[in-house]
Amino acid sequence: MRFFALLWTLCFLLKEARAWGYKNGIFHNSIWLEQAAGVYHRESRKGRYQLTYKEARAVCKYEGGKLATYEQLEAAREIGFHVCAAGWFAKAHVGYPIVKPGANCGFGKVGVVDYGHRRNKSERWDVYCYNPDSKECGGVLTDQLRIIQSAGFPEEYQDEQICYWHIRVRLGQRIHLHFLEFDVEEDVGCLADYLDVYDSYDDVSGFAGRFCGDYLPDDIISTGNVMTLKFLSDASVTAGGFQLQYVAFDASPSAQNHTYYLR
Ligand SMILES: *[C@@H]1O[C@H](CO)[C@@H](O)[C@H](O)[C@H]1NC(C)=O
Ligand SMILES: *[C@@H]1O[C@H](CO)[C@@H](O)[C@H](O)[C@H]1NC(C)=O
Repeated sequence: MRFFALLWTLCFLLKEARAWGYKNGIFHNSIWLEQAAGVYHRESRKGRYQLTYKEARAVCKYEGGKLATYEQLEAAREIGFHVCAAGWFAKAHVGYPIVKPGANCGFGKVGVVDYGHRRNKSERWDVYCYNPDSKECGGVLTDQLRIIQSAGFPEEYQDEQICYWHIRVRLGQRIHLHFLEFDVEEDVGCLADYLDVYDSYDDVSGFAGRFCGDYLPDDIISTGNVMTLKFLSDASVTAGGFQLQYVAFDASPSAQNHTYYLR
């Protein structure tokens, strides 16, 4: 009897782990992106709930994508995309995807919470975009080894860029970032132009460093199989830009010597 209870508990836990927890080594928390889904959440650089419908469309278009449709948002939700922030999506709807029911978000429901078609397009929300492809400025990268560089490198980068690179390698691997060139407008505190590195799949948790100026940053090694890079430039002054390489390596202790990949 006890055995069956244990088995049941195990099955329950496994089911729970599938619904909410690790998938390909990524904990489904605030953002979960997969190449197959290609749906992602963005907010304005001014912060949460600042985008009109027109601005929301421009944010997605800027990254080479479009507003996500309800079906795309739902498909992403089914693989664990959970964000507790309302955003515009296609056909001037506003809503957000909920995987795990919670009192503070989604009224305890699971699914795409849809506020419906908004007649007032001047309302301000976040946005859900769809873009299955990577492009020069950002993207979802799953290769074992890649060069990442500012758009137009080695020419100067443009003003007013926001680029996100979400790196996801295989479960059990880690990511080694190695900077090759670095020249980003310098200011105290790196408030104008900067490159942020996050040891996670979003730009909320796992902050690993902010870089500007022309010192070559040290190598950065992830703790898990995901990383996010965010490059932002303001409305004035640009510089030569940056180029870096990432390489995936096996996280098992017997495979710690991976330096030779970098040459
Ligand atoms: C539309 O929304 C904006 C922003 O919330 C608000 O300022 C404005 O009064 C609304 N317009 C109408 C007609 O309700
Ligand atoms: C790592 O591997 C490289 C190339 O195979 C070798 O030259 C180097 O000595 C190794 N380093 C360590 C610490 O084992």
